[in-house]
Amino acid sequence: MSNVAPEGTLSFEEAVMARRSVRGFLDTPVPAETLRTIFTLAQQAPSNCNIQHWKVMVASGQAAKRLSQKFIDVVLSGKGPEPDFDRLEKFEGIFRTRQVETAQALYGAMGIERDDKEGRMRAALRNFEFFNAPHVALLAMPKDFGEVLALDVGMYAQTLMLAMAAHGVGSCAQASLSNYPSVIRDFFGLDDHYGLLMGISFGYEDPSIPANKTRVPRTSIDAAVQFIDD
Ligand SMILES: Cc1cc2nc3c(=O)[nH]c(=O)nc-3n(C[C@H](O)[C@H](O)[C@H](O)COP(=O)(O)O)c2cc1C
Repeated sequence: MSNVAPEGTLSFEEAVMARRSVRGFLDTPVPAETLRTIFTLAQQAPSNCNIQHWKVMVASGQAAKRLSQKFIDVVLSGKGPEPDFDRLEKFEGIFRTRQVETAQALYGAMGIERDDKEGRMRAALRNFEFFNAPHVALLAMPKDFGEVLALDVGMYAQTLMLAMAAHGVGSCAQASLSNYPSVIRDFFGLDDHYGLLMGISFGYEDPSIPANKTRVPRTSIDAAVQFIDD
């Protein structure tokens, strides 16, 4: 394989910098051939002992709309989340600070005030509308594999989202879609021993959606990376 980006696609650095969470999409579907190219690239992600334990389910078009409606029915029924994997309830310290700043950037772009509970609820519900995306991918792995093997699915997810970015396709990673795994089990006939980790809504960005004006910064590498060289 050549190390030059194919015509019409972004280079690695361009794709990394272009990828950001897109929360508003056009109806235009991604052509089937582009989908195959993108998912073939993602399949190159590394995994422990090359076991390739990600299970990926994609709903498009009317199927995505039907799936979205099933999610919304469950959310509006008032049923609480029943995720397959444990997760931290609340961030503390610097992680809480960054979480709040990120929420402020998103709600600020959407024009939602801090005390506008209804606005925030509506914004949260947009997750289950897949932000109007014509496609959604759900990522699962065997339930008993644990945190270390979940890393591999994370690597798959980022490879997938970068492949999308390189092909001009926007995406949003969504832990929120793992809140109601029974919806996915019914819809895709997912085996009970698989647990749902996350979803990714994707398609072509609608630049007119205010949420898509959101930009969130990163700290300098000095806060994250320790180099020792002597
Ligand atoms: C595993 C994971 C789960 C996420 N879950 C959600 C989600 O449920 N809803 C959402 O709007 N954004 C979600 N995000 C997007 C993050 O908020 C976003 O990646 C972060 O703020 C950095 O912004 P950027 O993606 O635009 O660079 C998630 C991201 C990751 C990596």
